[in-house]
Amino acid sequence: MSLLRVQSVSKTFVTTRALREASLAIEEGEIRGLVGENGSGKSTLASIVSGIITPDSGQMFMQDKPHTPKTVLEANNAGISIVVQEMGTIDGLTVAANLFLGEERRFTKRGLLKTAHMNKAAKQALRTFGIENIEPDADISALSFEDRKLIEFAKALHVGPDLLIVDETTTALSQRGREILFGELQRLKAAKKSIIFISHDLAEVLEHCDTVTVMKDGVIVDTLPTAGLDERKLKELMVGRELQQTYYREDNEASYTDEVVLRVRDLTLKGSFSDISFDLHSGEILGIGGLTNCGMHELGKVLFGLHAATSGSVEAVRHGRKVSNYREAIACGLGYLPKNRDQEGLMLLSSIKDNICLPSLSRLRKNTFISPRKERELAERGAQQLSIKMSSINQLCLYLSGGNKQKVSLSKWLVRDSDILILDCPTRGIDVAVKASIYTLMQELKRRGKAIVMISEELQELIGVSDRIMILRRGIVENTLNRRENLSEEEIIHYMI
Ligand SMILES: Nc1ncnc2c1ncn2[C@@H]1O[C@H](COP(=O)(O)OP(=O)(O)OP(=O)(O)O)[C@@H](O)[C@H]1O
Ligand SMILES: [Mg+2]
Repeated sequence: MSLLRVQSVSKTFVTTRALREASLAIEEGEIRGLVGENGSGKSTLASIVSGIITPDSGQMFMQDKPHTPKTVLEANNAGISIVVQEMGTIDGLTVAANLFLGEERRFTKRGLLKTAHMNKAAKQALRTFGIENIEPDADISALSFEDRKLIEFAKALHVGPDLLIVDETTTALSQRGREILFGELQRLKAAKKSIIFISHDLAEVLEHCDTVTVMKDGVIVDTLPTAGLDERKLKELMVGRELQQTYYREDNEASYTDEVVLRVRDLTLKGSFSDISFDLHSGEILGIGGLTNCGMHELGKVLFGLHAATSGSVEAVRHGRKVSNYREAIACGLGYLPKNRDQEGLMLLSSIKDNICLPSLSRLRKNTFISPRKERELAERGAQQLSIKMSSINQLCLYLSGGNKQKVSLSKWLVRDSDILILDCPTRGIDVAVKASIYTLMQELKRRGKAIVMISEELQELIGVSDRIMILRRGIVENTLNRRENLSEEEIIHYMI
């Protein structure tokens, strides 16, 4: 008897056939990978199984009992929990309240919530997952993206699921977060529990999953054991054609002009980083790496003027101006791609067109009018450049798949022709084919004299595309390495920890 059986399940959103007659079976104690290009239907399938949305047709069974969850809670009761792809925690509540959402009754006495009791239970729950550094009474919105994801993970585990679904979570996590996650997955497997693991990191899928299901355009293409499968083959199955092997830059030397476009001096943000100085040159890709709490994500925000620095300066040299807020930053040709795209990068309730055109409005304006035709053309061009999968540019961003949201978030700065791009985890949730095209695009921008700061948790990516890699450790620049042949991950890790 399989734990979960999905039979001929379909789902159409207005005109998008997101899932077509999908069938699969998950066995007890199985870790199943689920891969496919952006928009291929992975999250849709996961959402149906976990009660977030209902299918149009088809049937599901959990341990041979009909499985028709109408809510996440119903799915929880049937033994299924999920860590969703986008943000699944609620702002304004504490860590403990998020963790025990829906279970408050356990901590209520004569109508009063026993907060201390709940916090204590939360502390304990977090500790069992190896999370020591998060306080239960902290407001969740004060936490880093990674820590919020870990709280969601703890919440999903707390349900005690027979089947845990993890949707594209690891790319939001640092090495430490990933270790916690994979450790727990192994523990679940040992207890005969099952996992559906969705990821664009194919190496990770091959390493941790027993079997892998490949989706394409809403259809399940194949399910294979991971033993004997390699990345190249898996990519081919996903994309439906052989991919070019060169993924990263092929030259082995740093190359950029002498012209400094961004001058950063003694930049400090109290509690995050201090005394950071560097010059960013035209034609340069400056990678910034470190452990997730090293201050690099905050640095990106300060460079773009989203957070005010405690001291120090950021100067846009061509404009001869200091940048201290994002309006000035945009006026000086800066663009910023945040790691947390849903909350910081996009207006989810607006169309793709409006999102892409937003930073360019001043350029589209003639007298007081904005030409609808120009706006449309700009958005079409942007969407085409990154092959955004959508029904039209009028579609709301809310309804895009995760990777396609990321593309919109990037596209708005590309169509604006920004001179200086600050990209925080630019390929988070992006499929292998598009990832390759984003790297190619970065090379092209480099050739055209643009300057890029790329903050990344992925060492291979840092090594693969950067001219220089600046490594932060506890908020301080530990070292800056030049691009060269045989620069290794070990060397970078050495400075990170
Ligand atoms: N609520 C919705 N309304 C309209 N269209 C939707 C909705 N949810 C998903 N879609 C569409 O369904 C298709 C499948 O999306 P899904 O989120 O399942 O893709 P995915 O495989 O998870 O992709 P990614 O790797 O980018 O996360 C996409 O074309 C998406 O735009
Ligand atoms: Mg998805």
